[in-house]
Amino acid sequence: MTTNIAEIPVRKICCIGAGYVGGPTCSVLALNCPDIQVTVVDRNELRINQWNSENLPIYEPGLEEIVKQCRGKNLFFSTDMAPALKEADLIFISVNTPTKTFGLGKGRAADLKFVESCARLIAEVCDRSKIVVEKSTVPVRSAASIVNVLKANTKPGVSYQVLSNPEFLAEGTAVNDLKNPDRVLIGGEESEEGKKAISALSWVYRHWVSADKIIEMNTWSSELSKLAANAFLAQRISSINAISAVCEATGADVSEVAQAIGLDSRLGPKFLQASVGWGGSCFQKDILNLVYISESLNLTSVAAYWQQVIDMNEYQKSRFGERIVQSMFNTITDKRIAILGFAFKKNTGDTRESPAIHVAKHLLEEGAFLHIYDPKVEKAQILLDLDQLDEESGISIHTDPYEAAKGTHALVVCTEWDQFIVNTYDYQRMYDSMLKPAFVFDGRKILNHSALTKIGFHVETIGKRHGQSFQDHNWAGTNGI
Ligand code: UDX
Ligand code: UDX
Repeated sequence: MTTNIAEIPVRKICCIGAGYVGGPTCSVLALNCPDIQVTVVDRNELRINQWNSENLPIYEPGLEEIVKQCRGKNLFFSTDMAPALKEADLIFISVNTPTKTFGLGKGRAADLKFVESCARLIAEVCDRSKIVVEKSTVPVRSAASIVNVLKANTKPGVSYQVLSNPEFLAEGTAVNDLKNPDRVLIGGEESEEGKKAISALSWVYRHWVSADKIIEMNTWSSELSKLAANAFLAQRISSINAISAVCEATGADVSEVAQAIGLDSRLGPKFLQASVGWGGSCFQKDILNLVYISESLNLTSVAAYWQQVIDMNEYQKSRFGERIVQSMFNTITDKRIAILGFAFKKNTGDTRESPAIHVAKHLLEEGAFLHIYDPKVEKAQILLDLDQLDEESGISIHTDPYEAAKGTHALVVCTEWDQFIVNTYDYQRMYDSMLKPAFVFDGRKILNHSALTKIGFHVETIGKRHGQSFQDHNWAGTNGI
């Protein structure tokens, strides 16, 4: 007899993929649902060992405390997939869906091979009905593919309901985003069985999320909402970055423009911080995915529209690198440059698609020597990102920002770490140890430029006219003319 999904109480959850999404999501779930046993499985033994150790594989404020509190009680990390899948009532698929690097859709389409192999594994080992939840960000209609793979391989008497439940956490604030989500989307089939599966997952979230924030919808809307949300967020940054270029050319200040725009209650103040460019594992991949889907559906104008959001980001990263070279008298060959910040944003050690990589490579190509400092990124990761085997070829990685600055011609801020702000660092000390003229290039517009100018730095920043602060500094002496 087929087990009815409605008869499945959610007592045990298994999550495949102990990455940036699966790890924090399941930790917060275990914290809020002491009546549910959560097992996170991953094929990567090192990663699982790290989750079981004192040094977690990812850094997220507040995460370590939660893991310590729940691990061994109702939160487990394991490489042994089959038993955890067999026992589970509900399975999250939280594996990565990278952009394809070969074949049809190369460079744009999402590679679903890991998601498909999870579906095959589930069908192979499970002998009772389950709810399978797609948490990985996937192209629209992926749930249908998971259903097909499951159906074609299911054991007799077993049935599956596949739900879409995209994750909206941002790195660096993952724990807070998970504890207090703006919304939880649950997409499922409109059948009776589908509705029951949606209710079961909804019940899990209701442990800590209020009912008005849990939104039920059809599977395709849920899948598309995730891609659309990331595309809109990236679009906002690309828009303000486009305006930053106009500011630099005209003398307007992008912070003032952003403030003016953000006060319009229809627009709101968030995601208007001009920068050296956006990075991270999701934006680029998800927009490329949206572009590819649109092209596949013959919606070429839609595809071109979203492609432009990516193109603007590439332009922004290149523009910043070029500005550094131009400002330093059109040559940085053999000059030493300190890069402050390598992560794609503050409060994370993640460097995926980090704009710092683009900038660093640009500077290396121009013949500079780089001194790189980031409070959270490991040396090996930086070298890997820059395609280097060791600290030869003009790169040295530092664990102390003052050591990184010593003997350099310029400081380049690529990540908006709080500690880079003037009151935290002694920029006078850095200035004294640098070659003159000493430059600061603020790719995040976070520093106190007038304080730096007063020290003697030549300051260049995103979204303000070339050398404006330098000129401001000179103008101060010509007061009254
Ligand atoms: C996430 C999301 O799940 C994805 O949808 C989103 O678009 C990008 O971010 P993330 O958690 O950041 O992925 O990926 P990652 O940190 O690479 O973790 C994925 C984990 O899945 C890895 O630890 C990997 O070892 C594991 N994995 C992958 C498996 O266990 N089995 C597989 O078949 C494939
Ligand atoms: C993003 C989405 O915010 C999240 O909802 C989704 O689940 C995953 O993708 P994440 O990539 O972790 O999260 O970080 P986010 O805070 O969105 O920042 C992305 C990039 O944009 C970073 O490089 C950040 O520095 C940059 N950014 C952000 C800006 O340049 N300006 C801004 O105003 C905001």
